[in-house]
Amino acid sequence: MLMDSYHRVVDYLRISVTERCNFRCQYCMPEKPFSWVPKENLLTFEELFLFVKVAIDEGIKKIRITGGEPLLREDLDKFIKMIYDYAPDIDLAMTTNAFLLKSTAQKLKDAGLKRLNVSIDTLKPEVALAIAGKDVLANVLEGVEEARAVGLKVKVNMVPMKNMNADEIIDVLEYCKERNMSIRFIEYMENRFAAKEISGLKSDELLAILRERYEFIDEGFDGSSPSHYYKMKDGYRFGIIEPYGDDFCKQCNRIRLTAEGQLIPCLYFDEALSIGKAIKEGNIAGAVEVLREVVKNKPEKNRWGGEDGEVSSRAFYETGG
Ligand code: 5AD
Ligand code: SF4
Repeated sequence: MLMDSYHRVVDYLRISVTERCNFRCQYCMPEKPFSWVPKENLLTFEELFLFVKVAIDEGIKKIRITGGEPLLREDLDKFIKMIYDYAPDIDLAMTTNAFLLKSTAQKLKDAGLKRLNVSIDTLKPEVALAIAGKDVLANVLEGVEEARAVGLKVKVNMVPMKNMNADEIIDVLEYCKERNMSIRFIEYMENRFAAKEISGLKSDELLAILRERYEFIDEGFDGSSPSHYYKMKDGYRFGIIEPYGDDFCKQCNRIRLTAEGQLIPCLYFDEALSIGKAIKEGNIAGAVEVLREVVKNKPEKNRWGGEDGEVSSRAFYETGG
């Protein structure tokens, strides 16, 4: 079992398989980065899988594939199958922008993927264009339908932003509710790479909008999920991810691996240790040591909403959100 210095059990590994993305979301990567990680610096799927085995043997029970956009990486289904074959009981999920999902959903499901998180920030094509920098909505929605049709469970993420998609909070929720998909609203997390003009809705502003339309009760946190849950009268639940809130980090159970092999203890901070050398040398003991060290180094709390006006310099497209 992996436990950090604040007695939190770490059993969730997020693996970013590429930082590249076919979208340019305002809150993540509005501009193409100055340079991408050169392909030769990426860990191969075989190398990543070596680390996955180490992590599972040390106590990881949930793995999420992220990016950038993970579907840009060739043969992703083969990597998923490697993980599935090693540990069929692992909770194996992926976060994707869904643009390429229509043609890949079946393959991913057959490989052993169980669940997907998808961003639907809007249901208006022109707003999707403004947020993602390209006309993506039709593909995204078709991708979501296909994923559901092949039996993948889909959760939706929405980042509500003023003057952008805040007037669609109810519409996106209803879209999900009609399909019995859960939705999580994510407070915009400030970072150095995002568009400067963004103003995200904080959870109290969001709740005020939702209260005008629905009655619901506060269900608090649920296990190690980062969401604060609310339940409507008819039983439908929605979540809010509140990284600015005091309780957000209390149940954090996760670490993140970048496509280059940097193992990151917290989404906010720059700190990381590389597993690259150990993995490339097939040094399992070395990889275990790095993993334990990173878990030990997990900070107690992020600094979103801190008083000193500091902004996170972690790129979301490196860490997979
Ligand atoms: N703030 C909040 N959420 C973000 N995401 C990406 N960048 C940010 C940010 N700055 C979310 C997207 C997507 C997931 C990968 O991360 O909504 O669903
Ligand atoms: Fe790409 Fe996801 Fe970042 Fe949007 S949020 S630019 S889809 S990695």
